[in-house]
Amino acid sequence: LPIVVLISGTGSNLAALLAAERAADCPYEVVAVIADRDAPGLEHARSAGIPTQVVRLSEHPDRAAWDAALAESVTAHRPALVVLAGFMKLVGPPLLEACGGRIINTHPALLPSFPGAHGVRDALAHGVKITGCSVIEVDAGVDTGQILAQAAVEVREEDTEASLHERIKAVEQPLLVDVVRRLTAAR
Ligand code: GRF
Repeated sequence: LPIVVLISGTGSNLAALLAAERAADCPYEVVAVIADRDAPGLEHARSAGIPTQVVRLSEHPDRAAWDAALAESVTAHRPALVVLAGFMKLVGPPLLEACGGRIINTHPALLPSFPGAHGVRDALAHGVKITGCSVIEVDAGVDTGQILAQAAVEVREEDTEASLHERIKAVEQPLLVDVVRRLTAAR
C-alpha cells in the first residue's frame, strides 16, 4: 500500500522504512517523501528514485496556507498511511481532515512523558532511568494521540543527549517499521 513519509532531519527512520521495503513480503511502498525544509534525509529518497518535495512555510503567506499546501501535496499521492519520521512541525487541520486516523508519528520518549520537540533532552534533565520511544497516532495535540507501540531504553550515567538519542534511534527504527508493516498489512 502507498505511504507518504514526512521528514525534517536526517531521515534515519525513513532509511529504515526503505531498507525494510526490500523484503518480498513488504505490505507498503514509500511513494513520496515530503519535507518542510532542505532535510538531509531527502537524499535517501532521491537515491531510491522516490519523488521528493519541499513545502516551505517561508514560501507561503501564512501558516494556514502552508497547512493547506502540505495537505494537498500529501493527498496527491493517495496514501493509505502518512508517516511523520522526524517531522518537526505540527500537522494542521487540512491534513488531519484529509487523512485523520491514518497519520502516525514517532517520538523519542515514553509518552505521555516528555512530549514536544526535546523529548530526549527533557528525559535526561529530569533524571529518569528508563526512557525510550513511542509510535503514536497523530491528532490535533502535541504528541497526545493514541499510543500504538513503545520500546524502552536504559539511561546510562555517562549519557549525553546525543548518546542517548543514538540508542533510542536504534530501537525506534525497527519499532516504526513494525507498526507501519502492521497497519498496512491490516488494510
Ligand atoms: C527521531 O528520534 C524522532 O523520533 C524525532 O527526531 C528523530 C528524527 O530522526 N522526532 P531521523 O530524522 O529519522 O533520523
